[in-house]
Amino acid sequence: MKKEALLYEGKAKQLFKTDDPKVVWVEYLNQATALNGAKKDQIAGKGELNNQITSLIFSYLHEVGIDNHFIKQLSETEQLIRSVEIIPLEVVVRNVAAGSFAKRLAITEGTPLKFPIVEFYFKNDALDDPMITEDHIKVLDIATAEEIETLRQMALDVNEALKKLFTEIKIKLVDFKLEFGRTETGEILLADEVSPDTCRLWDLTTNDHLDKDIYRRDLGDIIPVYQEVYNRLNQRKGA
Ligand code: TMP
Repeated sequence: MKKEALLYEGKAKQLFKTDDPKVVWVEYLNQATALNGAKKDQIAGKGELNNQITSLIFSYLHEVGIDNHFIKQLSETEQLIRSVEIIPLEVVVRNVAAGSFAKRLAITEGTPLKFPIVEFYFKNDALDDPMITEDHIKVLDIATAEEIETLRQMALDVNEALKKLFTEIKIKLVDFKLEFGRTETGEILLADEVSPDTCRLWDLTTNDHLDKDIYRRDLGDIIPVYQEVYNRLNQRKGA
C-alpha cells in the first residue's frame, strides 16, 4: 500500500490517498484544540496514544459486530481506513449529565440519566457546530429519515458495547461523540475516531477525568491520563 497525496487535514489528523481508491491512510497529529480551535497546542505523544486507543476500540467494535471504517494500524501514529464520505453530523450519546448538557439545562454534572440520549450536531465550524433536530437534518438533506434511524441505532449499539468495555477496565463512559460515513454503495459505517479526545471517561472509583476535559478545563497534562486509558485497554486485550 502506497501513501499518496494529502486529501484532508483536520484538527487532529491528516488523511492521505493511497494507490487503492477504497483505502485512506490516516496520520494522527499531536495537535490539541478546544473551543472550536480558539485554544490550540502541540502535545507530544497525543497522536500516538489516540491512534493506538482508537485502533484497539475500533477492532473491538468489529469483534462485537459494529461496522466501522478501521482496517489496520500501520505504526504508532498511522492507520488504514476505508474511504467513506463523512456525513456532516456529530452524533453525541450521553449516559451521565456533563459538559454542554449539564450547562444548558442546569443539571449537576455527574447526574446519571434515566436512559442514554442521542443528540445531533451539524459539523460546521463557521456556525460553531450547532445542535440540530432530526427535521433540520432532513430539510437540509444531510441524511434521510432512514439514515437518521440507522445513525441513532448504531450510536446506541456503540454505547452498549463501549459501556461494557470501559466497565471492565473500571472506567465510567459519561458521554462521547461519533461520526459516520457512507461507502460508495451507501452503507453507513462508523468513522473518525473513538479516543479520550472524543469521549468523557471518568475513573469508576475516583471520578477523576481520564479525557480531554483535562485540556479543555486546564486541569493538567493529558498525556499521563491518555496513557492510563491505553494501558488499561491494552491490559484487557492481553488478559
Ligand atoms: P459536549 O458536552 O461539549 O456537548 O460534548 C459531548 C461529548 O462529545 C464529549 O464526550 C466530548 C465530545 N465532543 C467532541 O468529541 N467534539 C466536539 O467538537 C464536541 C463539542 C464534543
